[in-house]
Amino acid sequence: MSEAVLTLKEVSKTYTSASEKLTILRSVSFTVEAGKIVVITGASGCGKSTLLNLIGGLDTPTSGTIEAGRYQVGSLGEDGLTEYRRNVLGLVFQFHYLLKEFTALENIMLPARIAGLSRGEAKEKAELLIADVGLSDRKEHYPTALSGGERQRVAVARALMNDPLLILADEPTGNLDEGNSRLVEELLFSVVRKHGKTLILVTHDKSLAERGDQKYILNSGELLPA
Ligand SMILES: Nc1ncnc2c1ncn2[C@@H]1O[C@H](COP(=O)(O)OP(=O)(O)O)[C@@H](O)[C@H]1O
Ligand SMILES: [Mg+2]
Repeated sequence: MSEAVLTLKEVSKTYTSASEKLTILRSVSFTVEAGKIVVITGASGCGKSTLLNLIGGLDTPTSGTIEAGRYQVGSLGEDGLTEYRRNVLGLVFQFHYLLKEFTALENIMLPARIAGLSRGEAKEKAELLIADVGLSDRKEHYPTALSGGERQRVAVARALMNDPLLILADEPTGNLDEGNSRLVEELLFSVVRKHGKTLILVTHDKSLAERGDQKYILNSGELLPA
């Protein structure tokens, strides 16, 4: 039996404004074991990013609990959240968020440098990860000198840098053309499998969804098996 890396229990999210109450997630529950790839699909605006933001500690559930590793995500203070994000999570978004004054390799090194790894050790590790995403010959390039697909490949490598327990990817191919989407998708899956990582991938791309170990669709706030 494998250990659970992530457990959501009856997680709900409601946004309340002066005039109305908007329920985005209704009693969402699921468990993910180490090394599994979970793919969540659903129409635009159905709450996919909201769900990932809750898991990532960027937002808090209205009710329910989220346990990731040894962290109770909903009840972490500011310091706890920083530690959780730094030690447990690797994030890939639709936009790459690479720092433009750093090279591709330096961007990949950054999370480890922030976590206190020496420059030499971080560089050694980043060299391996940039090779995993096929960009060793672009490591000295600045983000402005990379294509959209290449930037996302750097972002994928960066997400693995701190050996995260959990990688969260929110429509990582959403801004790319078809060809680059497929390439980034291939690399994301292969690098996650190679390193035995656990991935929660949110996408509206149905072909991507086919490839998960666990597949769900978010519909009217409910998470259903796909
Ligand atoms: N801070 C907020 N206040 C009110 N409504 C929000 C807020 N954030 C998101 N929403 C609403 O929640 C719904 C789900 O958004 P989102 O999670 O971004 O969807 P998806 O990622 O599936 O496209 C949308 O209808 C959006 O307008
Ligand atoms: Mg979204």
